[in-house]
Amino acid sequence: MAAYEYETHEYDVVVVGAGGAGLRATLGMAEQGLRTACVTKVFPTRSHTVAAQGGIAASLGNMGADNWQWHMYDTVKGSDWLGDTDAMEYLAREAPKAVYELEHYGVPFSRTEDGRIYQRPFGGHTTEYGEGPPVQRTCAAADRTGHAILHTLYGQSLKQKANFFVEYFAIDLIMSEDGECQGVMCWKLDDGTLHLFSAKMTVLATGGYGRAYFSATSAHTCTGDGNGMVARAGLPLQDMEFVQFHPTGIYGAGCLITEGARGEGGYLTNSEGERFMERYAPTYKDLASRDVVSRCMTLEIREGRGVGKDGDHIHLNLSHLPGDVLAERLPGISESARIFAGVDVTKEPIPVLPTVHYNMGGIPTNYWGEVLAPTADDPDRVSPGLMAVGEAGCASVHGANRLGSNSLIDLVVFGRAAAIRAGEIVDPDTTGPTPNTRSVEMALARFDGLRHARGQVGTAELRLQMQKTMQQDAAVFRTEKTLNEGREKMDDIAAKLPDVSVTDNTLIWNSDLMETLELANLMPNAVATVTAAAARKESRGAHAHEDYPDRDDENWRKHSLVWFRGDEMKSDMGYRGVHVKPLTTHNEGGIDPKKIAPKARVY
Ligand code: FUM
Repeated sequence: MAAYEYETHEYDVVVVGAGGAGLRATLGMAEQGLRTACVTKVFPTRSHTVAAQGGIAASLGNMGADNWQWHMYDTVKGSDWLGDTDAMEYLAREAPKAVYELEHYGVPFSRTEDGRIYQRPFGGHTTEYGEGPPVQRTCAAADRTGHAILHTLYGQSLKQKANFFVEYFAIDLIMSEDGECQGVMCWKLDDGTLHLFSAKMTVLATGGYGRAYFSATSAHTCTGDGNGMVARAGLPLQDMEFVQFHPTGIYGAGCLITEGARGEGGYLTNSEGERFMERYAPTYKDLASRDVVSRCMTLEIREGRGVGKDGDHIHLNLSHLPGDVLAERLPGISESARIFAGVDVTKEPIPVLPTVHYNMGGIPTNYWGEVLAPTADDPDRVSPGLMAVGEAGCASVHGANRLGSNSLIDLVVFGRAAAIRAGEIVDPDTTGPTPNTRSVEMALARFDGLRHARGQVGTAELRLQMQKTMQQDAAVFRTEKTLNEGREKMDDIAAKLPDVSVTDNTLIWNSDLMETLELANLMPNAVATVTAAAARKESRGAHAHEDYPDRDDENWRKHSLVWFRGDEMKSDMGYRGVHVKPLTTHNEGGIDPKKIAPKARVY
């Protein structure tokens, strides 16, 4: 192996990733005077949060009655009773506070006539514990809410003197022999140097792994890097079988058309011009939750009622909406439809198809963002020195299916929670850890191995094999056959990773090496997804198993865990129980437990 020199940086906290969760954590840490570094592989305002469109859920009640208990109920039901109840209560209770903080930091929300934050309806968000009409709970900055939040948080973080290390790729976590995280080894993409960030707390905010699939609304940077590092560190990934398909990706291009379009009055039709959601979800129709709408669209196509010459997609109609609604509330998607589908939304429907959008699973954490290293005796054991927030983390608030606009609120509520917790447990006056030399050497050896990989299969070719397999075999609907085949195919594809070929071994702007490191991160995500999906013999949320069409709470109301053996793609599975107790009792003002008892999930 080549001898590598590296520069060591010592901080109280290192945050990996600068999307909404990473920036909110960075800002909160820096505000408390913790010496904070944020390392990110892309410029902060290019992180994938910038693409979030429709909005951020919080029960502000600006457009009608609402309260956090209704929001919590909707989240529990949306999760198909797999979410952790304490985390879901924390999310719903803290959401209004977190949104008002964003407002005070300067997020330019759209406004009502009387100057309050504008809120729109979104799928699965209701009143009266699912008995009343849809609620307007999703706070929006037109259809560019993520963009507005990201820019504001970045500006505020700079104001608090957080230190940004931009275009640094995180290679591996540095772990002590007894399992404490001590920081992260990074590669600086523009000059090829290596950097060890040693910290008392490492926060992974690395986003999802949508790019394990062929067609995704996720940016090409969404390669599950934190999950990959955690898997190599011997920690488990949780609930990976639950992959969300957004109902309205643009057919062919995969770009997102916000659910806000249906929130503002848009609707779906099949080849007969029928508003088919009325048949499947008579109460909430096009505003049923995403997993439900995606399945209904897929059924319409399967039963021969898809639109287009191949009958393989669905129409989203907006042309009946007033021009000022399109111009003021949905300018971004009007532009996307024109550019990516050649459609003028004032005149024609948009061709859409369910497209991979979000990973409910990820790195298991408690609701403070602390990463868990569960054992049989202690399923909630905390792994010291390590946190995970945002889509990388699995707190678990989304369970088997996330509600639209609960992602942006997850980012800021749990980014903020991680900062609050770090403020309690990180002592700025102590010296930091001495990085474990063996772990540092292992990180460098893996990096060097990939840099000089001269196998038989190119990175792009292997990535395509993985993406096609995931798209085909771990899709909206799954069967025993597709899942078993998918698992076998993914095992074979993952086994080819040591045979990958990198043609460029320079260190400056080496996109071949970077994409190979990303592929090595995507691979455990993909394997864990199909492995956990093949094991789960029920249907729940986004996991629609045609051979087991019903939810089975008696046997399967539990989180799945997948561990990898080091850098190998061999995995082991286990389970941990769902937290069913709320944080506060009904007497203390908490939700009535009867309201959130499991029941059939209909919209
Ligand atoms: O449809 C959307 O605007 C996406 C929102 C979300 O995923 O939360």
